[in-house]
Amino acid sequence: MAVWTPVPEGLDLVDAAALPMAVETACRSLDILAVAPGSTPFLYGAGTMIGFAAVRMALMRGTRVIAAAGENFAGRMRALGAEVTAYADGMVERVIAIASGAPDLILDAGPVSNVLPDLVRIAGGDGTRVLTVSNHGPVATDLGVRHSFEGGLRYNAVGEFAQRAAEGRFIVPVAHTFPLAAWRAALAVSLSGHAHGKLVLLPERRHTAPAVA
Ligand SMILES: NC(=O)c1ccc[n+]([C@@H]2O[C@H](COP(=O)([O-])OP(=O)(O)OC[C@H]3O[C@@H](n4cnc5c(N)ncnc54)[C@H](OP(=O)(O)O)[C@@H]3O)[C@@H](O)[C@H]2O)c1
Repeated sequence: MAVWTPVPEGLDLVDAAALPMAVETACRSLDILAVAPGSTPFLYGAGTMIGFAAVRMALMRGTRVIAAAGENFAGRMRALGAEVTAYADGMVERVIAIASGAPDLILDAGPVSNVLPDLVRIAGGDGTRVLTVSNHGPVATDLGVRHSFEGGLRYNAVGEFAQRAAEGRFIVPVAHTFPLAAWRAALAVSLSGHAHGKLVLLPERRHTAPAVA
């Protein structure tokens, strides 16, 4: 399915290129979890670009947001209104203490990891309150964790968030741009697991002038 969205006036093309995947996946995941005013979602892996987008979207939906992330984006998320803790040792206890009980909905937006049992503990043992975008497999099935492909794709949300981005009210941060020919360097940063933002490849300049007969 191809969904085309015009780039709104005022939105830089690099910033626009950073949006679709993170916006679509974050929006779809929050919709499946039914994150709405009155819920207290816990967003694990909030330092991924899906997670960062999900934090902003959940706050826009009027919920209290508890997030686990590295230090890179923690300050920005706190400034937006999220309560942020580290994803290192002791996360389960810290999150339950911050929430004064079990958060009702949990999004695993982190990379592939062994975190699901901890997230189900935070959910008070109820795996159906947890949705993962990355940890699909037998552990998720055994724990009853939901996955992000339950719902239809949400690329139709990209236009709204592109407009917000053009107005300075939304962003998916770009860590680095690379010329297309340097894709291996971009891949190495991505595979490090700590890209700290989107990596955007820039195609070589194309000459669009018509050929002279
Ligand atoms: N289901 C879907 O539809 C769908 C679609 C696209 C992608 N995905 C998957 O979703 C995941 C996130 O994708 P993305 O592109 O948003 O990721 P990303 O931005 O490339 O994530 C990189 C960030 O992950 C954080 N991180 C590293 N190790 C972590 C850990 N153990 N726990 C929590 N955070 C950690 C790091 O930030 P800090 O350490 O600074 O916090 C790092 O900067 C990937 O596994 C991807 O394959 C799923």
